[in-house]
Amino acid sequence: MRRPIIAGNWKMYKTPQEAVEFVVQFKEKMADIYETDVILAPPFPALVPMKEKIVGTDIKLAGQNAHWESEGAFTGEVSPLMLVDAGCRYVIIGHSERRQFFGETNITANKKVRAVLDHGLNPILCVGETLEERETKQTEAVIAEQVEQGLKGIELESAASLVLAYEPVWAIGTGVTAKVDDAQQVNAFIRELLSKIFNVDLAEKIRLQYGGSVKADNISEILAKPDVDGALVGGASLDVEGFAEMIWKCEEALTV
Ligand code: PGA
Repeated sequence: MRRPIIAGNWKMYKTPQEAVEFVVQFKEKMADIYETDVILAPPFPALVPMKEKIVGTDIKLAGQNAHWESEGAFTGEVSPLMLVDAGCRYVIIGHSERRQFFGETNITANKKVRAVLDHGLNPILCVGETLEERETKQTEAVIAEQVEQGLKGIELESAASLVLAYEPVWAIGTGVTAKVDDAQQVNAFIRELLSKIFNVDLAEKIRLQYGGSVKADNISEILAKPDVDGALVGGASLDVEGFAEMIWKCEEALTV
């Protein structure tokens, strides 16, 4: 049984002060959450102040990106070593906005996945097709390339700490969610790829999220699918009440 994992990707929203206000309210609402991994991925400047507020809770922090080196002359970059020190346990890698606007490729995503694993962090590797790729029936080919290249050279011992997020690009921030059956189908396909890259046992352990316009009113049906182990939530994670409700729904589904 894979432990569900819900992550809030705040993108470039919330100042450190707003982030602290959020987490102070949010942690109260998470007091009775035992079965779900709850992760917040704020902008970098909010990590350290949030780290101080989540002491004693099970809430975990994630970076939204990381460089593959530990330090160096890389203006504007943040290293996995720094993210560990800032309280992170997870790092989102290869988000489609990084690929689209900041030139990330499967090759840079792979370097980053390996670097964050080397620092004991859990990567959340994002994959997903564009609308054009879906319409021209290239979804599986694109996903296979992203998964195979993104995970090149990962040792079997590290594989179980991987998380992958299937995020169809056309569903991100658009209000259009993939049909739950499509999400299930792609996640099952990813699991099959993982069983070839690693082995069946490891593929069964690796958690696969779905992301793209997940909200309180659709999260339950998405999580009900057997190969969807959690959600990567953008817009809907910015509101304390709304995001807490999504996690309660996940927890409820598990405890009934
Ligand atoms: P969204 O974003 O929930 O706002 O669609 C998801 C994501 O980009 O991870």
